[in-house]
Amino acid sequence: MCGIVGIVGEITVADRLIEGLRRVEYRGYDSAGIAVAGRDGHVERRRATGKLKELDRVLDANPADGVTGIAHTRWATHGAPTETNAHPHRAGRVYVVHNGIIENFRELRDEMEAAGRRFETQTDTEVVAQVIDYELEKSGDPKAAFEATLHRLRGAFALAVLIEGMPDLIMGAREGAPLVVGFGEGEGFLGSDPLALAPFTQRVAYLEEGDYVFVTKRKTEIFDRKGQPARRQEKLVQLSAALAEKGNYRHFMEKEIHEQPEVIARTLTHYVDPFRLVVRPFESIDFKQYDRILIVACGTAGYAGQVAGYWIEQIAGMPVRNEVASEFRYRDPAVSKRDLALFISQSGETADTLAAMRFCKDRGLTTAVVVNAAHSTMAREADIALPTLAGPEIGVASTKAFTCQLAALAMIAINAGRARGHIDANREKELVTGLLEAPRDVSKALEMEDEAKRIAGELTQSRSVLYLGRGVYYPLAQEGALKLKEISYLHAEAYAAGELKHGPIALIEENLPVVVVAPHDHLWDKTMSTMQEVAARGARVILVTDSAGLAACDVKREDVILLPDCAPIASPIVAAVAIQLLAYHAAVYKGTDVDQPRNLAKSVTVE
Ligand code: F6R
Repeated sequence: MCGIVGIVGEITVADRLIEGLRRVEYRGYDSAGIAVAGRDGHVERRRATGKLKELDRVLDANPADGVTGIAHTRWATHGAPTETNAHPHRAGRVYVVHNGIIENFRELRDEMEAAGRRFETQTDTEVVAQVIDYELEKSGDPKAAFEATLHRLRGAFALAVLIEGMPDLIMGAREGAPLVVGFGEGEGFLGSDPLALAPFTQRVAYLEEGDYVFVTKRKTEIFDRKGQPARRQEKLVQLSAALAEKGNYRHFMEKEIHEQPEVIARTLTHYVDPFRLVVRPFESIDFKQYDRILIVACGTAGYAGQVAGYWIEQIAGMPVRNEVASEFRYRDPAVSKRDLALFISQSGETADTLAAMRFCKDRGLTTAVVVNAAHSTMAREADIALPTLAGPEIGVASTKAFTCQLAALAMIAINAGRARGHIDANREKELVTGLLEAPRDVSKALEMEDEAKRIAGELTQSRSVLYLGRGVYYPLAQEGALKLKEISYLHAEAYAAGELKHGPIALIEENLPVVVVAPHDHLWDKTMSTMQEVAARGARVILVTDSAGLAACDVKREDVILLPDCAPIASPIVAAVAIQLLAYHAAVYKGTDVDQPRNLAKSVTVE
């Protein structure tokens, strides 16, 4: 994960910024930078590619003296890990570091260019610096300039800003990516993680979504999205890394659910050219060479693969076969060299998936893996490794890895669609635009946590829960049932809604909870008629839908988990948040060991 550190103080700050970054460097970075302001307000910037020690070297050779500064370590997503692409980015008097994604940066860039401003990079971060500087020139007031800029930004991000000539101020904002403020004696701090601030202070406050903050030596002013002064509780963070890593959250699973806007953004920007709104071609895969894609995985990764199956057939017109790894490896599966064998795995070590991959390699198939653990066996052994950038997933129940898998798989579908001439440039642009909005949509979806929590409490009163979905929402229903079972130990089953009449409808009895995952799409009417059938038999329907769905159904508002409206391609990613929150809160109600549910292991390296 990218790291942010900011310090406002009175003593030399460069070494301390590096010290803060070092605390979070274990996550792996490929470029870093700092900008520091001296007492006279003059700003010096130093950046370097490679590990933090390279930045150390640069600073040894060319020290940067200052008392206030911002720093960033970057894990390259889009754009090579070059010095030019490293943060902080600068425009005029403004220096910015940033995690996440600014969706509307092209519009803002066009506007800034039309106003005569010149850009040095192709990054979305530079656009933020440009807009702040532009507003600053107009008003002369940094706070007003920052507020005006925040009103214009769309996306999921965390920001820290330093301004030339203002050595007693750093400004920060959180919208979908974490940011904490730290309190010291005559000093103030900003960090993407309390761990980054651990060398300086244990007193921190977590910003909430939409918050922004002005940090000076003597005071820290926090405002909410509406611009109203906000109080965020100060906490004393224990220095234990594990505790600090959980932050405000009770469980890693909860934290990982909330990290999704940021890590989905990171995964998407790894694959997308945000300027042209196209997916960068995978040089290593010529989709025209293959007749079919064989998708093999286990558990949650398998459900991500099923969603991908719908996408690839629809977007690329290419046949897909989904396989459960443990079945596939022991059948004598009929495969051909014109199959592309695609594996999906968070850990990259799952025994059955790995065995299936080796089987395909032995048969001479090209193997590709969508994988989170970059140095895992599958990442090394596959012909092509396509990363998800979810960062370490510690909760046993997969959450952020799943949505990042969906993001990467959507990239495969689009790439295949374009390569095979099944979609044109406009359609590609539409799909990519929809996906780039997913981090913000997910961030909005997280706002319905209280709804999910209330309904989760009700689910725990039942012995069993049924999940239904159609099309891409069928694998989502399966994932919902799996999540609920594995962490709350409630019995849950999932069916394709159309299958209900073929047997499972016999299970319906008075008050049986039936979770219907159905954002409004072309299958809406079909799903609704199934829903009515179960409701007529006394089931307690819980509908996961969007505003069009809510308007078109007669389910009571309190029985609906309302998702934000979003592009159809982003919709399964957004719906995943609802089913994760339902399962998470059901488990919390039941008091289970959420992060390490009984009988399970994070990485299933035995069959
Ligand atoms: C469920 C879950 C598992 C994994 C499965 C595959 O929450 O996490 O179903 O998805 O064990 O693991 P990976 O993705 O590591 O191959």
